Amino acid sequence: MDRRRFLRNFAVGLSACALAPRLLRAEVAVAGDGTRFAQALAREPWLAGWKSVEAASFGPTVATVEGSWPPALAGTLYRNGPALFERAGLRYHHWFDGDGMVHAWRCAKGKVEHRARMVATSKYAREQAAGRFLMPAAGTTIPGASPIRNNDDVNTANTAVIRFGGRVLALWEGGSAIELDPGDLRTLGPVTWREDLVAAPFSAHPLPDRDGSLWNFGSLDLLGGSGLLLWHVGADGRTIRTATLSSDRPGYLHAFAMTQRHLVFVLTPYRMEQGSAKAFFERLRFTPDQPCRIAVVPKDALDSPRWFETDFAAVYHFADAWERGSEIFVRAVRHLDVEEMRSPMGAAMRGESRRRDDAKPSEFSTLRLDTSKGTARWESAGSRDLEFPVFDARHADATPARVFAPVRVDPVSTPYFNAIVAIDGDRRIVHRYDEGVLVEEHRFVPKPGRRRIGEGWLVGTVLDPKRHRSGLAVLDAERVADGPLATAWLPYAFPLGFHGWFAG
Ligand SMILES: [Fe+2]
Repeated sequence: MDRRRFLRNFAVGLSACALAPRLLRAEVAVAGDGTRFAQALAREPWLAGWKSVEAASFGPTVATVEGSWPPALAGTLYRNGPALFERAGLRYHHWFDGDGMVHAWRCAKGKVEHRARMVATSKYAREQAAGRFLMPAAGTTIPGASPIRNNDDVNTANTAVIRFGGRVLALWEGGSAIELDPGDLRTLGPVTWREDLVAAPFSAHPLPDRDGSLWNFGSLDLLGGSGLLLWHVGADGRTIRTATLSSDRPGYLHAFAMTQRHLVFVLTPYRMEQGSAKAFFERLRFTPDQPCRIAVVPKDALDSPRWFETDFAAVYHFADAWERGSEIFVRAVRHLDVEEMRSPMGAAMRGESRRRDDAKPSEFSTLRLDTSKGTARWESAGSRDLEFPVFDARHADATPARVFAPVRVDPVSTPYFNAIVAIDGDRRIVHRYDEGVLVEEHRFVPKPGRRRIGEGWLVGTVLDPKRHRSGLAVLDAERVADGPLATAWLPYAFPLGFHGWFAG
């Protein structure tokens, strides 16, 4: 890649992130937020999903298993999510701002043990020592924030976690992967895949290929540029290739999709409000009047993307993708409410206990790309109000996979997911959890020794605010309607997270 151009973009990114001294005036307006949230939490226990953790670590704790935990389900579910939202009375407004806490749920011989630890990023360590927020955040203006040297100065490592090549990596959207000790979750430090790309964005949603290598991207928009940095890392941790994908206009993306032959990047158009020194997500405005741009990149020719355009779509997460003849199909969760997309559960973060009445639900959708005609279009895939889709990664990419996702179904008592759905062709199989339970991503885990696609368990975390406890549920992926085979409950609760990874 053009290193000089990259570094120029990088420098622009630094100045874009720096906060002007006049924002000190904002201090009075935001300082009381922690109190307001605490008052709302007392009325609405489900807001525990966005409550700041009060300890830097939990466990190890042996969970109490209700039901019969499958003895053959052996391994560790790692989970990550924003967990520390408040310091010195100041509360973040945006869910994505919280410092990451990584959890390890170890399953063996029908028993489950849990431990969790804050990721000791440089940001966390500095702020922990100071007892207050010091660094700019992605979605909240921090009064008197310090200038930053590079993106890793504000890296919260709060979005996802993977095990790759024996290493456990906490991932964020705008900077380095942060390596953790797989056993006790101590932070080992940022990963540098290439010496000349220190602190470059390595997104939270890398996709493993069948040869054990890992594909990923980093958004150059987060460095003040426009486009993508593409990563291909070998199973041995060495960088096989990087490439830049330039774009002539801004496009936001959080994840991507992949077939056997292609990477597919869907860029949601946006503009940044000018003349303001507010945080990234405070200035960002998605632009539904503009088309969505899609780059289809051959894995064997990263420098030869093919671009498509279609109707606007705001997407965080993708499910499966497959190719049939000259067509490429990609399934994704489209957010029809761009304000909710800009700040998911923003009202909960602010201690406003209800979602807006006019909020529109998300929609499971299929993107159809015709490479012979150069056309693209979105079609509804028939499910609404869902997120965090997963599928059996062994699925061959010639047909749609069975997709699993947290979903919100009637009757609802909170503005969050209360059920899990299996989407299998036109069939929807749903298990609704107990009243008031908040449902997170469920990972698909193949049953050991079974080769049939779809034969596996769903392993997912849930929060029971009424009983102040977090738990890990296991379902038979082929019998979702039956509900959990077992749930391992902890004697404590922690905030909801985003993504996990099961390592056998
Ligand atoms: Fe994500």
